[in-house]
Amino acid sequence: MINDLWYKNAVFYCLSVGTYMDANGDGIGDFEGVARRLDYLQGLGITALWLMPFQTSPGRDDGYDVSNYYEVDPRYGTLGDFVEFTHAAAQRGIRVIIDLVVNHTSDQHPWFQEARRDPHSKYRDWYVWSRKRPPDSSKGVVFPGVQKSTWSYDSVARAWYFHRFYDFQPDLNTANPQVLSEILKIMGFWIQAGVSGFRMDAVPFVIATKGPAVRRPLEQYEMLRAIREFLQWRKGDAIVLAEANVLPDTDMEYFGRDGDRMHMMFNFQVNQNLFYALAAQDVRPLSVALRKTKPRPDTAQWGQFLRNHDELDLGRLTDPQRERVFREFGPEPSMQLYRRGIRRRLAPMLAGDRRRIELAYSLMFTLPGTPVIRYGDELGMGDDLKLPERNCARTPMQWSTEPNAGFTKSDKPISPVISSGPYGYEHVNAAQQRRNPESLLNWTERIIRMRKEVPEIGWGDFQLLPTGDVTVLAIRYDWRNNSVVFVHNLSGKPRELTFDVGLQSEDASLLINLLSDDHSRARHGRHHIVLEGYGYRWFRVGGLDYLLKRSNVEVQSKVHKIARRRKR
Ligand code: NOJ
Ligand code: CA
Repeated sequence: MINDLWYKNAVFYCLSVGTYMDANGDGIGDFEGVARRLDYLQGLGITALWLMPFQTSPGRDDGYDVSNYYEVDPRYGTLGDFVEFTHAAAQRGIRVIIDLVVNHTSDQHPWFQEARRDPHSKYRDWYVWSRKRPPDSSKGVVFPGVQKSTWSYDSVARAWYFHRFYDFQPDLNTANPQVLSEILKIMGFWIQAGVSGFRMDAVPFVIATKGPAVRRPLEQYEMLRAIREFLQWRKGDAIVLAEANVLPDTDMEYFGRDGDRMHMMFNFQVNQNLFYALAAQDVRPLSVALRKTKPRPDTAQWGQFLRNHDELDLGRLTDPQRERVFREFGPEPSMQLYRRGIRRRLAPMLAGDRRRIELAYSLMFTLPGTPVIRYGDELGMGDDLKLPERNCARTPMQWSTEPNAGFTKSDKPISPVISSGPYGYEHVNAAQQRRNPESLLNWTERIIRMRKEVPEIGWGDFQLLPTGDVTVLAIRYDWRNNSVVFVHNLSGKPRELTFDVGLQSEDASLLINLLSDDHSRARHGRHHIVLEGYGYRWFRVGGLDYLLKRSNVEVQSKVHKIARRRKR
């Protein structure tokens, strides 16, 4: 295994430039503003940023409707500011990945404008048309309740065009080689401007067959290899983090059996079952999700997250499971969205209960993969349910007790700052939390620091340990002669449990607590621990001389395993 695969153990942080920090006082966050906050981010310990779309856009889907792929939206700054920013991030050891939104463009994009005006334009075939209204046009909408159909009539083109998402986001015809070549050009452009990769939007739709005759879209997985190959030629250590909310049996198609497609994917399966586990205080479905998403190439990695900029999508749970999560975390209709999800931020969902927030974050940091934090969650920021759809969880970052949370000097911020109630900026802000050693911000900083000292999570193999208690998740990682164990109590009641770490070595009799002095010595091969309600433990197996034991290579190299498998 190549040690350099940085994304195997990164700490990602996602933010929108427009709502992070406004440097020039026009009410809109900008690259200069984010650049000035890089010291904050470095101090927090994050190693990679994921920027939501910032290219020129009419902004009808928060930038996910791009009208020029080769420009920074002037509201956020210039290309020059962008390059300064990636450079300043690199100086602090922070990589930048950016959203790559190429399933569709804005309907204002010149390609679409030309395509609709001129049937002979080369751009006509860059989109997906039908002369008649295709059957099934009301099926497969992604935003039910808001979006009515996946085909709309364009009076200029005098034809119907396909749009998987909103009607102002016409789908690109990704089967057209010119379109694929343009996608690569866009990637090459931003690579040259200093990014370390892409969060690729809506991957299953990008690679699906599209057209009026398509009843069941088929994924063209080979496209992913073409994208990967191009990227790796241009920049060896650049990655793609795929947004693909798919079932575990297709995971390998996305990663590629030989690890030759997507480097990373968000683990939506674990995400939904994790919220179910927190709601129902039952880890069984989460354990199933962990086992099902376990197979992946050695070089591939999961992105583990709690909340992101969209609704918490619970569409893959069973109806009773989803109902359960709704009941616990989003009982009001105003908290729910698209008939499948919850649009709130994490802290309000967990009733602002610090023990539960820590538990949720501790889980996210210790589940197999690389953690992805959402800006503001390190402070326990709340939401504004008066704002439409997903905007409620996209309010400006709360920096201080200054007007508008110190986000802007303007009295007209791009989106209202949360200014009343328990999550108002006067109570929840970075400046105050910075000064309080017990704050969530400082807790997050400490937990990130420890997470970095436990590379076993990102690199190693994991086993779920039987605890005999459905409210407790115990997981062990093994990597290069070392093992670590994490135990989480999802219930609000104290739990007493006995478990075997499942290792033969003598070390297994000692568990060193990494976060406090409460270590555990096994009796007759079993550890007995008492966990407080919502309690969690991070243990290292054996002593703290683990660094001396760590080997430089895999103890049993995967290469040998594969060679053996091939011979069979
Ligand atoms: C997924 C993005 O996360 C979401 O915010 C967006 O609306 C859709 N893709 C369409 O681009
Ligand atoms: Ca600004």
